[in-house]
Amino acid sequence: MSLEALRADITTLFVDAIVNAANTTLLGGGGVDGAIHRAAGPALLAACRALGGAMTGEAKITPGFRLPARFVIHTPGPVWRGGAHGEADLLAACYRNSLALAVKSGCRTVAFPCISTGVYGYPPEAAARVAARETRAFLKSGATLERVIFCCFSDEDLALYDALLAEPGA
Ligand code: APR
Repeated sequence: MSLEALRADITTLFVDAIVNAANTTLLGGGGVDGAIHRAAGPALLAACRALGGAMTGEAKITPGFRLPARFVIHTPGPVWRGGAHGEADLLAACYRNSLALAVKSGCRTVAFPCISTGVYGYPPEAAARVAARETRAFLKSGATLERVIFCCFSDEDLALYDALLAEPGA
C-alpha cells in the first residue's frame, strides 16, 4: 500500500476512483467539481441527480463516464468557519467515508483533491494534516487499497503533503 502526493489535474489520473470536492446538492459547481463534471460529460450530472444530494462528510459514488477514472466519489467537505464548528471531524469523515466506499466498490487506487481548501476556505496545512492522519488510520484497519494519491493542484499544496508524508505516522 502506498500513500503519495503528486501535482496533477485530477481529471487526468488513470486510477480506479477520483474523489470530488462537491457540495451538498451534488449537482456540480466550480473548482475541482466543475473540472470533473466538464471532463466526465453530462452523463455525470444525470447520475448525480439520482443520488439525491449528500450531507457534509458523506460520500456517494457514480461511474466516471468520459474520465479515465472508473468511478467518481462525491463528498461535500465542510465550509471553514474558524475551526470551532466541527470542521476537522467533518473533513476527516470525508476521507474516511470516501475510502470505505472505494474499498466497498472494489477500488485499488484512489486519488483525492485537497478537499475544502479552495472555495470552502479550510486552511491547507490543517486540512492536509487531517487527510494524512485519517488516511493512515484507515489503512491501518487492514483495508485492501494499493495506492492512495493526494492530488495537489499547486506546488504549495504538494510541498505540504510531501512534508507530512515524510513525518513518521503524522
Ligand atoms: N485537479 C485537482 N485539484 C483541483 C482541480 C483539478 N482539476 N481544480 C481545483 N483543484 C483544487 C483546488 O486548487 C483546491 O486545492 O481542489 C481543491 C479544492 O478546492 P475547490 O474545488 O474550491 O473545493 P472546496 O474548497 O472543497 O469547495 C467546494 O466549491 O466548486 C465548488 O461545488 C463545489 O460548492 C463546492 C465548493
